[in-house]
Amino acid sequence: MTYKITALPGDGIGPEIIQGSLEILEILSNKFNFDVEIETKDFGGIAIDKHGDPLPKDTLESCKNSDAILLGAVGGPNWTDPKNRPEHGLLGIRKALKLFANIRPTIVTESTAHLSPLKESIVKDTDFIIVRELTGGLYFGEPKYFDENQAVDTLTYTVDEITRIAHVAFQLAEKRNKKVTSVDKENVLSSSKLWRATLDNVSKSYPDVELNHLLVDACSMHLITNPKQFDVIVTENLFGDILSDEASVIPGSLGLSPSASFGESGPSLYEPIHGSAPDIAGQNKANPSGMLLSLAMCLRESLNQPECAQHLEDIVFSTINEGITTKDLGGNKSTSEVFETIKKSI
Ligand code: NAD
Ligand code: IPM
Ligand code: MN
Repeated sequence: MTYKITALPGDGIGPEIIQGSLEILEILSNKFNFDVEIETKDFGGIAIDKHGDPLPKDTLESCKNSDAILLGAVGGPNWTDPKNRPEHGLLGIRKALKLFANIRPTIVTESTAHLSPLKESIVKDTDFIIVRELTGGLYFGEPKYFDENQAVDTLTYTVDEITRIAHVAFQLAEKRNKKVTSVDKENVLSSSKLWRATLDNVSKSYPDVELNHLLVDACSMHLITNPKQFDVIVTENLFGDILSDEASVIPGSLGLSPSASFGESGPSLYEPIHGSAPDIAGQNKANPSGMLLSLAMCLRESLNQPECAQHLEDIVFSTINEGITTKDLGGNKSTSEVFETIKKSI
């Protein structure tokens, strides 16, 4: 069986973290005896420069015909036209592939707790997943426009959209610590009132799972004062975006956090949660861990290689524990030095 992967390096640090990750994928496929065929496509700002479109037809076709998509990051100061931005490519691919469920895990082991800027006693043993709704909410609601005098974004959710993401969260919790925390702004937003009522409804099908509700402002405080209380957090698109960047502080760096995006069928997409980091792009400074842990999620979920995924995760963390890491985590190694160390450990 040959797995088809579409790689979308994108912009800024995207190509720097994808290149080494693809080399690592090749090495892993040899060691664990599976075949991969990788097609690399233009996406984001570079695709605007080359084709006038952040998501060219050819790129989308390749994604649709693949078993999984690996994405670096898009965006940067070179692309500011509000009508044609790299980020539109990212939203476009999520919508086109109906990738409504975005899974963003946060884990702190005993041996990595010292890397957090927060107290070790607070972060040690943290293990939760943010389930972020990815194809609805303010990102996509219509009307959406701006002119000189007014700008409009629309926050809308249907019961069906909330129900399907709720099932993802409850099913995950069933396999974990059986606790779902739903995050909303029910004291103000209509969409949140529907969100909360729908979560209550869906929870009736999961009697073993405890459901709690938190308002998003309070959640942002709980997240960094007592992260251990969480198992599965489920929330709408924008809240999930913001809370997951906040959550990345707990293990120590935005450069560590991976994600996976799933639809009901079709290829899934794997990308670190961070952006193109224009401030360090082109300097060989980016932490490749979030990308590599996203690759591990891909190996486990789309390529049916759980042992290979575990092996990669173990090496990523042991390399960090040995102090072989980038500046964001207190190390002095370059991106390529981290990749070389990991390659040798495989
Ligand atoms: P960012 O995530 O790119 O960077 C925020 C900070 O974190 C920066 O200081 C950066 O240097 C640091 N950082 C991020 N990733 C890192 C890594 N792997 N290693 C070390 N440090 C890292 O956020 P931003 O600066 O607000 O956005 C820059 C661009 O990226 C924008 O155009 C934004 O739209 C885009 N963006 C894209 C994605 C994506 O492609 N999935 C995600 C977020 C932001
Ligand atoms: C992310 C990013 C994207 C988002 C942007 C770049 C559109 O911040 O993947 O977290 O907001 O979803
Ligand atoms: Mn984000």
